[in-house]
Amino acid sequence: MAFWGYAFGLIVAIQPSYIHPDEHFQSLEVLAHAIGGVKGTISWEFDPVYAARSHIPLYLVYGPLYFVMFRILHIQDPVIILTLVRVQTYLTTIFIFHQTFRKICKSKRYDAVEFLMATSYVTCSIQSHSFSNCMETQILLLLLASYQHLISLHNHKPQTQTGTTWINVGIAFLITLGIFNRMTFPAFILLPSLRLFLKYYIHHFKMFSLFILSMISLWLVFIQFDTWCFQSNTYAIAPWNNLQYNLNVSNLKLHGLHPRYTHLLINIPQLIGPVLIFVFTSIKYLKFSDHMQRLPSLSIISALITLSFFPHQELRFLIPLVPLIFITFHDIHCKLWVQLWLLFNIIMALIMGTFHQSGVIRVIYHYQQLSKDYPLGIQIWWKTYMPPTWMYMDSKLTVSTPKTLSPAIVNSSHHIIDLQGSSLSSLNSTISQVLDNDNDDLILIVPSSMKSKLSTLSPTYNITEEYHTYAHLDLDHFDINDLTSFIPGISSYKVSKLA
Ligand SMILES: *[C@@H]1O[C@H](CO)[C@@H](O)[C@H](O)[C@H]1NC(C)=O
Repeated sequence: MAFWGYAFGLIVAIQPSYIHPDEHFQSLEVLAHAIGGVKGTISWEFDPVYAARSHIPLYLVYGPLYFVMFRILHIQDPVIILTLVRVQTYLTTIFIFHQTFRKICKSKRYDAVEFLMATSYVTCSIQSHSFSNCMETQILLLLLASYQHLISLHNHKPQTQTGTTWINVGIAFLITLGIFNRMTFPAFILLPSLRLFLKYYIHHFKMFSLFILSMISLWLVFIQFDTWCFQSNTYAIAPWNNLQYNLNVSNLKLHGLHPRYTHLLINIPQLIGPVLIFVFTSIKYLKFSDHMQRLPSLSIISALITLSFFPHQELRFLIPLVPLIFITFHDIHCKLWVQLWLLFNIIMALIMGTFHQSGVIRVIYHYQQLSKDYPLGIQIWWKTYMPPTWMYMDSKLTVSTPKTLSPAIVNSSHHIIDLQGSSLSSLNSTISQVLDNDNDDLILIVPSSMKSKLSTLSPTYNITEEYHTYAHLDLDHFDINDLTSFIPGISSYKVSKLA
């Protein structure tokens, strides 16, 4: 059963769905610039002024694949690149899960745990994308398994020296990598590390010193590498810069503030759906002291408490907890529940893993393929997620947003203007600005949910549809007063002046 879940999941994983801009702009876009020589968008975290994200995790995880694709095979097809990245991320996640979960699972119902992991939409639809959170899941599983190994070594067997030495160095490496990957990583390991310290390090001072020394050396290497990547004059300590930025609530406001209970009451139920029933039923029987001895429970508790303090609470921040929740709560005993679970995950995999904003990828691919024969021209995106500009595979691309758009650069044959959620009137004025700047026409890309708004511009310009797909789910612009806003799909139009 788990095998079929994984096989079905692999098909979902390679669908062109697009869940959140970070899956492109904090990983694939950065490497496509650095290794593939394409131009596009540089997100603020990778701007040397902020230097708020490390390059090390990117080069370690995607570097080899990118090197082979760009420098050896010279692949120019962005969909092949995206697909290979997804396959790699999905397969490594399930491989790491498969290798580690038995070590940290206290019950022997391994088949139930693996069934949940294999059939969860989170595994195939989110865990397979190129988020730093996916890497966080992998690091956390490896780390908890290593912690458990050391703790049980101490309890039972006599030690083999070289093996444990390497595990201690490995733990230092994983913690460092985890922190440089996402600065909130300590939230996930706070309580488990405390347990490791009390059960193991307190009795093994030599190993503790080795661990601390490895950690310091690795931090120095990581900082040096980032300083070199950012070509910075001072040391670029990415996690520290990121933390400073995130502790400032006025910065977080730009990303959206959520109520403090969002993680617990909204995000967790949305991630695990019907498994919530097991959480409720087993909490009654399990003693709190039992949970305090289990690394997965400790990790869940410390992450939920710590991350709930931050006022910016996105669903994907919690995905490393999903396998741990399955490891802790998996009391499947009725057929009806299994049907409910499969239904929940099929619906979510269709929404999140298949159609969500997928038209964005399809449209870019359409024009990327055409750009082999025709110049790209000027393209305006309106009311979609940020187009992942690396997928144009264009070494001359300029990208503007309403903030950076200046009349001087609105005349180029490789120009993307991302108007994001701007008003209809700023769309109108941007179009006229472009057409008044000696450009015969432009391409406008708009989701179908905005069709009736767009039609108010048809008396002003010549607007003809060029490309359309229904495979685009836009969950952000539903308008109860305008039922056409519920129509899925996305279109691109050629816009020119009225004759
Ligand atoms: C768009 O702008 C033009 C002037 O450039 C104006 O005549 C027209 O009414 C505007 N359309 C809308 C829908 O605002």
